[in-house]
Amino acid sequence: MNGKHEPLTEAEMAGFRLDAALLDQLRAFAPPPARILDWGCGRGRAVALLRQEGFEAFGVDTDRAVLRNGHALLRGRGLDPERLLRHLDDIRTFGEDGFDILFSEETLEHIADIAALAHESYRLLRPGGLAVHSFPGMRRLVEPHLRMPLVHWLAPGVPRRLLIQACLLLGHGPRPPWPEAHDNRGRPMPLAGQAALYARYLEEKVHYRRIAEIASIHDRVGFRVGHRILGPAPAWAGLLPESWRGNGFPAGNVLLLLHKPDIIAPRASTGSTPS
Ligand SMILES: C[S@@+](CC[C@H](N)C(=O)[O-])C[C@H]1O[C@@H](n2cnc3c(N)ncnc32)[C@H](O)[C@@H]1O
Repeated sequence: MNGKHEPLTEAEMAGFRLDAALLDQLRAFAPPPARILDWGCGRGRAVALLRQEGFEAFGVDTDRAVLRNGHALLRGRGLDPERLLRHLDDIRTFGEDGFDILFSEETLEHIADIAALAHESYRLLRPGGLAVHSFPGMRRLVEPHLRMPLVHWLAPGVPRRLLIQACLLLGHGPRPPWPEAHDNRGRPMPLAGQAALYARYLEEKVHYRRIAEIASIHDRVGFRVGHRILGPAPAWAGLLPESWRGNGFPAGNVLLLLHKPDIIAPRASTGSTPS
């Protein structure tokens, strides 16, 4: 994993980059000092970087311990971490229409309730604002968190756990292996135990969805939805159905673009008019 359980340091920040396509999109849409919210900000690496670039950046995450691991670095830069990095429970402390841009990087696939994200994004963005999410497509050949081929193509269950175990046997798997995959003397757990751990992670913490499903959830909330696929694709991938290439086959990330309309049409009335 990415060291999110350790305090964020200036040395780590020196090597940290945001995805180039994502950053270009942010800069082109609303240059500094635009107000930006990083959804799934972790320790606030992107918040710190974007503040350095002159953006008014904030972050939100569901993991309090991870959020706290960004506090010292922000404080060291003369910033107020409690104000900049907030827990999802406190999202309503941000007023409506307050952000030009909301974005996430490698996070959308971890969000269980996409409808809640869509509604909240719409509330937080100003009219004309943009949400951008960069995340791995569900049709990638290799599952990027576990670094194992095809394991996310199978539904949770015994066949998936056995495929994970076979991948471990063949030398595929997280690098370095996760600390949780070791016993309390630091020795690697038996392969079956590791496979159960990684299978549980995939089932509980990673939610792959078709882009059409994510788009329709956002469309219903009122966003204008577009997306493109980032990353190399061999020429023969063009022979495959759009539902594969459009979902990241063989190694693509999705860049999802959600525009909140400038002029919001009044919602159609559903109930009877009060007399
Ligand atoms: C892969 S990490 C990305 C971390 C961050 N972008 C970075 O560069 O350090 C995904 C993050 O999403 C957070 N997360 C998961 N579900 C969430 C949700 N519903 N709302 C906000 N954050 C969430 C996790 O706690 C985790 O910190």
